[in-house]
Parts: sequence; C-alpha cells; structure tokens
Amino acid sequence: MRNKPWAIPFLESFKDTVVNEPHLVASNWKSRLNCGILHVEIGSGKGDYWNKMAHMYPDHGWIAIEKDRNVAASSLKKNRDEILPTMALINLDAKDIGKWFADGEVDVLHLNFSDPWPKKGHIKRRLSHSEFLKEYKRLLSAGGEIQMKTDNGGLFEFSCVEMSNNGFICKELSVDYRRMDHPEDVITEYEQRFLDLNQPIYRAVWRKNNE
Ligand SMILES: C[S@@+](CC[C@H](N)C(=O)[O-])C[C@H]1O[C@@H](n2cnc3c(N)ncnc32)[C@H](O)[C@@H]1O
Repeated sequence: MRNKPWAIPFLESFKDTVVNEPHLVASNWKSRLNCGILHVEIGSGKGDYWNKMAHMYPDHGWIAIEKDRNVAASSLKKNRDEILPTMALINLDAKDIGKWFADGEVDVLHLNFSDPWPKKGHIKRRLSHSEFLKEYKRLLSAGGEIQMKTDNGGLFEFSCVEMSNNGFICKELSVDYRRMDHPEDVITEYEQRFLDLNQPIYRAVWRKNNE
C-alpha cells in the first residue's frame, strides 16, 4: 500500500482505540475492554473481520494487530464510525506479541489469510511457525484456541504440522469452509477475493493442550 501522509496523525487521534505501548496493558486487557473473553487477530488488514466480529459478539473484546501503518490507518478510516469500546488496535509487528499479554490472558487467536512467506529463508516469519506458537501457547488461556483461515494449501499443511508438533489439538478442519453457511464467522477482505475466484477456503481450529 502507498504511503499515506495522514496515517500517523490519524492513528494518533484514536487515543482510546490505538494502543502504542501494549506491554503496559498486559494483564489488564479484559478490564480495559470490559469483557470476559478476549480475541486477538494478527494481521488484521483493513479490519472488516475485527469490526464485524466485534459487533457480532459485543460482550467479547477484540484486538487487531496490524504491522503496516498505512493499512492500520485505512482500517480505522473504514470502520471509524463503528468502533466499540470493546475494540483495540495495535499497529506493531506481532513478533513481539509475547510481551503484550500476560500468561493465559487471550482466549482466541485468529490468523486470517496470513502472508505465506513461500521462500525457504523466510519460513520463520510465518505466523504459524513454532517460534510464534511457543508464544501463543503461553498467552492463551486454558482451553484457548487458534483459528486459522487461508487460501494457501502449502501454508495450511505447514501450519497443521507445526500445531501438532507444538501440542495443539485439532478440533475442526475444513478444506472448503464456505461450502456450508457459517453465519457465526465473518468473511474477511482477502477471503472475499478468493471466494469470487471460486477458490476453496481452508480452515482449522486448534485447542491448546493443557497437559
Ligand atoms: C494477506 S493480508 C490479510 C488481511 C486480512 N486478515 C484479511 O484476511 O483480509 C495479511 C496482513 O497481515 C499483516 N501482517 C503480516 N505479518 C504481520 C506481523 N508479523 N504482525 C502484524 N501484522 C502482520 C500484513 O501487513 C497484512 O496487512
């Protein structure tokens, strides 16, 4: 996305929603967002999923993490009239996610159409790489979940193996998720593009193994 000169002041004007120092909120997210169940979406893009899921589940807290400043600003611009007090946005790289949440603070992690990083030398950047999974395991609550959707078969296979190697238990798995109606789950911007091309959506849900 092209550089947007208005992005920084625009993000700064949403003081209640944009959290610049998330490590200072660690262990207090649920009271800040006044919720019992906390969701975190990593790589939230233009924010359709974040916003619409927050409205569908208004008792839950919804944190969007988007590292690209221009994309994060666009997501706020697009959804600015609908932001709820249960929503927060972190415009930082999730590589530091381990510092932002206390142990067991997050109930559901969402990975929607994460970048596949196909080159061998870039595999560690995948959001479902073991290095990330070790952090997710710590910050997820007992019985906490990771929900993933992707169009990319290679990333999906990789993620299934990584989850299994890190002790996550597969609860749900589909290689054509939208074959059936799923009114409980919002279609993301990228997902809509692949649906328009008649491509199948891969989806899985893994539960943290508490043993
Ligand atoms: C392919 S887009 C998908 C956007 C959205 N989830 C959707 O389904 O429409 C992936 C997004 O993840 C963001 N992203 C990738 N790696 C990230 C990271 N380590 N931390 C935060 N955001 C990341 C990218 O900037 C990009 O906006």
